[in-house]
Amino acid sequence: MTTARFAPAGRLEGELRPPADKSISHRAAILGAMADTPVTVRNYLVAADTTSSLNAVRALGATVTNGAKGELTIAGVGPRGARTPDGPIDVGNAGTLMRLLPGWLAAQEGRAFVLDGDDSIRRRPVDRVAKPLGLMGARIEATEGRFPPFTVTGSALEGIEYELPVASAQIKSCVLLAGLTATGATTVVEPVPSRDHTERMLAAAGVRITRADDRVTVAPQDELELGALHVPGDPSSAAFAAAAAVLVPRSRIVLEGMCANWTRTGFFRILQRMGGVVVGPLEEPELGIRASEPVAEIDVAHGPLVGTVVEPSEVPLAIDELPLVALLGCFAEGSTVVRGASELRLKETDRIAAVVDGLRGLGATIEATEDGFAVEGGGGLRGGTIDARGDHRMAMLGAIAGLVSRDGVEIEGAESVAISFPGFFDLLESTTHR
Ligand code: S3P
Repeated sequence: MTTARFAPAGRLEGELRPPADKSISHRAAILGAMADTPVTVRNYLVAADTTSSLNAVRALGATVTNGAKGELTIAGVGPRGARTPDGPIDVGNAGTLMRLLPGWLAAQEGRAFVLDGDDSIRRRPVDRVAKPLGLMGARIEATEGRFPPFTVTGSALEGIEYELPVASAQIKSCVLLAGLTATGATTVVEPVPSRDHTERMLAAAGVRITRADDRVTVAPQDELELGALHVPGDPSSAAFAAAAAVLVPRSRIVLEGMCANWTRTGFFRILQRMGGVVVGPLEEPELGIRASEPVAEIDVAHGPLVGTVVEPSEVPLAIDELPLVALLGCFAEGSTVVRGASELRLKETDRIAAVVDGLRGLGATIEATEDGFAVEGGGGLRGGTIDARGDHRMAMLGAIAGLVSRDGVEIEGAESVAISFPGFFDLLESTTHR
């Protein structure tokens, strides 16, 4: 285990290009493998999670070649052509891979696939995807009925209408992918909107996919052609630098090439509402499915913060950034409350417990609730030691907490940043004045 120390810093300044989006990269790998013609992917994320996706699709018969200028070409095997791998498919730490891939595997008639991963993944439930895939005709056998390792046995699938029990883009995407090979249409009903990268990528591939209010419907498609994909910068990674810029006086950074899809920019809207200076296209457009991802420059500068309430409908639009809302709350006037976020308990670690214990250990006044947390602001942070608990976003939270604390923060388990943002520490160093 590696430790890293972050001391109080001067202002942040400069242009910053966040690493490629993790969610879109996973989808590019999986849909690329499902396609009938080769797909070129520019700016695929080079990180542990998305390497797991490339290894998984290779094991299933796709060919991945590295081209010039960081370009990848994925030669897929078609929607029904996945090869039976020699052993279990190792998803590593990647929950998105573990929940999306079964949507494809469920259609491989008569073939069985075992999925497994690291210790953290073995604690994350898969019954949420097993249930709809079972209704479509596939068979999923999981450890204790709900955990990895688990086996997906493919079958001829039938389209269903499925109401999501929780707002989860992972479950939605899994069902939509299975819907591509089903007989008849498949509809997913979302309680509130969640990230829509799968819908956009399918629309770009010419798949008939529509949205009406909270219902997303996909029609079966025999052949899949994706052409070229470009992965924009990850707003969830950019959020860490944005939080630091808002907290450290006289800071101003420009986030370049960031994915500005409104289903991913909820955190930036919360930041703006709390008093941070955030300039860029953050508004919610009319509902409907677009066939591309918007990319924008977002300007972020320091501002005095006030507490806020994050409502359940905002949670899926900022789910991975909610630990940062707790950190901002420590420096805001009044209280900051996050509600309707019990999904945080099922992430790489229980992120409600990790954030509350972690920040309290650094001097925060913060309480856990069943479905979120409440922070009493104004006191800032003293500093100390924080355990990342093997969770990349907790390690990065610790680094930003260190920059804005009085005494600095030591992160235990700092190596976990490699899951989504291997260059995180260097990038922070290069934008911070000492
Ligand atoms: C993701 C969706 C979210 C998010 C995860 C990535 C995705 O999970 O937390 O990091 O790429 O679809 P849920 O959809 O399960 O909330």
